[in-house]
Amino acid sequence: MSRYAKSMVLALLAAVCATPAAFADAPKPPPGSAMAGKGIATLKCAGCHNVNNDSKGSPNLKAPPFVVIAKSKLATVREVDQWLQVAHHDMPDLGLDAGQRGDIVAYLQSLSPQDPMQ
Ligand code: HEC
Repeated sequence: MSRYAKSMVLALLAAVCATPAAFADAPKPPPGSAMAGKGIATLKCAGCHNVNNDSKGSPNLKAPPFVVIAKSKLATVREVDQWLQVAHHDMPDLGLDAGQRGDIVAYLQSLSPQDPMQ
């Protein structure tokens, strides 16, 4: 294989790995991975919520920023997990499985290190 062909294959592989579909099909990380949770939040929540570790307003002004959720009373593991299993008036059914919910909870926990959820 020529050098050029090799670099084309590598570039293609990189593009495939960077797509959301490839992310969803990737092997499941151990439960409660904050890094995976951030990836899911960026894909599924960032359209409405500010999912970053700052207190800027969310794209959807009614959706609390993740740092606010992380510090709210709601943000116990059990409550967030339940919230994520139902559709709310403005919030579509997110179709998250238990592992993905665990990852999001872990990510939320990572945003509130001084006041960890229980
Ligand atoms: C289509 C917009 C939209 C998307 C997408 C969305 N949300 Fe929401 N979310 C909202 C809105 C708006 C609220 C405020 C409560 C309400 O009006 O239902 C909310 C509220 C919440 C709350 C409750 C916050 C509180 O303290 O009351 C949690 C937790 C939450 N969202 C998590 C998520 C997660 C995690 C995702 C991604 C997996 C997500 N949301 C995706 C719009 C959205």
